Amino acid sequence: MAFLADALSRVKTSATIAITQKARDLKAEGRDVISLSVGEPDFDTPDNIKEAAIAAIRRGETKYTPVAGIPQLREAIVRKFKRENELEYKANQVIVGTGGKHVIYNALLSTLNPGDEVICVAPYWVSYPEMVALCGGTPVIVSAVQKNDFKLQPEDLERVITPKTKWIIMNSPSNPSGAAYTWDEMKKLTDVLMRHPHVWVLTDDMYEHLTYGDFKFVTPAQVEPNLYNRTLTMNGVSKAYAMTGWRIGYAAGPLELIKAMDMVQGQQTSGTSSISQWAAVEALDGTQAHLTVFKKAFEARRDLIVSMLNQTKLLECPKPEGAFYVYPSCAAAIGKTAPSGKVIATDEDFVSELLATEAVAAVHGSAFGLGPNFRISYATSDANLEEAGKRIQRFCASLR
Ligand SMILES: Cc1ncc(COP(=O)(O)O)c(C=O)c1O
Repeated sequence: MAFLADALSRVKTSATIAITQKARDLKAEGRDVISLSVGEPDFDTPDNIKEAAIAAIRRGETKYTPVAGIPQLREAIVRKFKRENELEYKANQVIVGTGGKHVIYNALLSTLNPGDEVICVAPYWVSYPEMVALCGGTPVIVSAVQKNDFKLQPEDLERVITPKTKWIIMNSPSNPSGAAYTWDEMKKLTDVLMRHPHVWVLTDDMYEHLTYGDFKFVTPAQVEPNLYNRTLTMNGVSKAYAMTGWRIGYAAGPLELIKAMDMVQGQQTSGTSSISQWAAVEALDGTQAHLTVFKKAFEARRDLIVSMLNQTKLLECPKPEGAFYVYPSCAAAIGKTAPSGKVIATDEDFVSELLATEAVAAVHGSAFGLGPNFRISYATSDANLEEAGKRIQRFCASLR
């Protein structure tokens, strides 16, 4: 439609939202759908956080806030970065936005000029390349393949850096693969970045608190302090504290960048919800006990779904270090025929036949830039997961 902005022609709608809608439609027809397509914890926000929000309302904390966030939250974020990531920031180096997505978008909007390249590591979170394109930049995709546990190799990073590269977006643990970088793996990547001083790092640490076993989370500016002056360290409360609906994300970085993002946000959404910000203060400063509870539950679910998927010969599912996703390969199912008579030619066919046959919703890997795989979110009850695992096994057994 001629009326719409040209920028829209460069952008796709979110595959995760599309699959979720398909699942909803099937549910409305009366099918017993199990949705493994959503990216949010099924837990409720902890009570201490809810109480802090209620108290904020009662105190009358219901007015506009400073664009970059209330001072109390910016200070709590400073403490969080010091306590958990060994990173020293001043409060004026911190910005709070309406969810992590908004913070990333504003960072790109504040920095990208036409022709600027942004490296996105596939499989990537669906929004990165689209946000880059919306902001006028050019996404440059580099693959982190399954045989490397979905982790970017230093030589591949080196290969895609050009004089036009402005940012690399890093995301560990990753949505959709769950892969997370150890200190040594991260250091190899930051070593490459040290050789290219014009490249900035946007690190999306949203799943920091969801790592399993004795895995230790690291972030780029912690591993290589010399990158501090060109790193935006982004994080949020959505996934760790089961607060997706509160819409609080934040980032810290060089003052000049934060000031630019503050200016952009000031002409856009202004400060985010005052009530949510007070809730986030409690999330960061209050008891952290529920993190362990969530983590334990997720770890057990990861183990359950990985084991069930690997029981079928047609799937190969690595056990990732973190987040709440697994990213099995369905390569062995390609070329087979589903009960409907349809030949499965792609991972998209695999998930759509799975949904039609067994009413299990998952997201095809091509939406994340790397296939033939599909993403399962195990942020759902054990009973749901177990039933979904059985249905996936039955579906795979039905392929001829
Ligand atoms: C990797 C990653 N980054 C950022 C976000 C956005 O988080 P928020 O809900 O705080 O906007 C998500 C949410 O799905 C995500 O998976």
